[in-house]
Amino acid sequence: MIEESTLPALAEIECAATLEALEALRVGTLGKSGSITTLVKTLGAMSDEERRTKGPLIHAIRTTVADAITARKAALEGAALAEQLARDTLDLTLPAADRPRGSIHPVSQVMDELAEIFADLGFAVATGPEIEDDWHNFTALNIPESHPARAMHDTFYFPESDLAQGGKTGPEGGRMLLRTHTSPVQIRSMLEHGAPLRIIAPGRVYRSDSDATHTPMFHQVEGLVIDKGIHLGHLKWTLETFLKAFFEREDIVLRLRPSYFPFTEPSVEVDVGFALVNGKRVLGGSGDAPGHGWMELLGSGMVGRTVIAAGGLDPDVWQGFAFGVGVDRLAMLKYGMDDLRAFFDGDVRWLAHYGFSPFDVPTLSAGVGTAA
Ligand code: PHE
Repeated sequence: MIEESTLPALAEIECAATLEALEALRVGTLGKSGSITTLVKTLGAMSDEERRTKGPLIHAIRTTVADAITARKAALEGAALAEQLARDTLDLTLPAADRPRGSIHPVSQVMDELAEIFADLGFAVATGPEIEDDWHNFTALNIPESHPARAMHDTFYFPESDLAQGGKTGPEGGRMLLRTHTSPVQIRSMLEHGAPLRIIAPGRVYRSDSDATHTPMFHQVEGLVIDKGIHLGHLKWTLETFLKAFFEREDIVLRLRPSYFPFTEPSVEVDVGFALVNGKRVLGGSGDAPGHGWMELLGSGMVGRTVIAAGGLDPDVWQGFAFGVGVDRLAMLKYGMDDLRAFFDGDVRWLAHYGFSPFDVPTLSAGVGTAA
């Protein structure tokens, strides 16, 4: 009886070809009404003596079959895994799939470069609000109410009614506006930190103007030095050092021209010499050389006495110089972009072309060649 019910089953288990076939064999032997379960049940009807002899045998049979099923199951699973591993080979020499990667906008890149250059010259970075009041943007900078310079700035004013509700007015009750230049940061920095002072203030400025070289929002960086005995020579050296470092050319030549800004006296417009190479302007060399020219680059001058006083300082003790330059313009000149509007369109194709890798550090010493 024992041989009949187990040996054929054992043989079948050992050559079960699939997990499904093996499961069927398990149900047929060890299942609720399987052959071995039925065999175990016969123990109940046996005499004590018979059970004593057959009991251990029947249990041994059940263990043998159960072990055989477990072993076969492991073997089938192992074979399935081996087969799958053989099928799913990985070619580790294939290049990884490229992931889309963001890039640094040229304006951010140039601002970082400016901060780096001026940090070496001992300048800290200062900031001020873009929603500014009339006093900081104009009056404190020696541009009183009726001054024609106010009209020149194409200012975006906030409606008077908005102000009454918001209650946000300048120290002298001035109207709120979008700052037209970064120069109000001169006043705020002097009032906040006193003197001596060496800051640059990069940021957004706004003017109601729009064409290929003007956008209603653009970027400037302001520079301000306040100390004792500061003169035009310091301004010239600082601008020369800055522009040579920024354009990464030793042959940058500057031309200082008398000019007018209400907040500087004397005021100096700074031009940079360029050569025409294949119809393109390439900075470097004197603009007076044959085939060369001068390009207007920035406004600057010695900080006016009334401006120093508006900053809470005594103009008999403290002198200084200031300059303001368009960041977008610097970026266009250095990296060869010709339409300012593209800077603010947010077209990712433009960014992919002109943007900078966030992993190229340090930015400056990476050089002009890193423009993508
Ligand atoms: N604020 C001036 C402008 O926007 C530039 C400037 C700054 C001139 C500082 C002189 C000194 O045109």
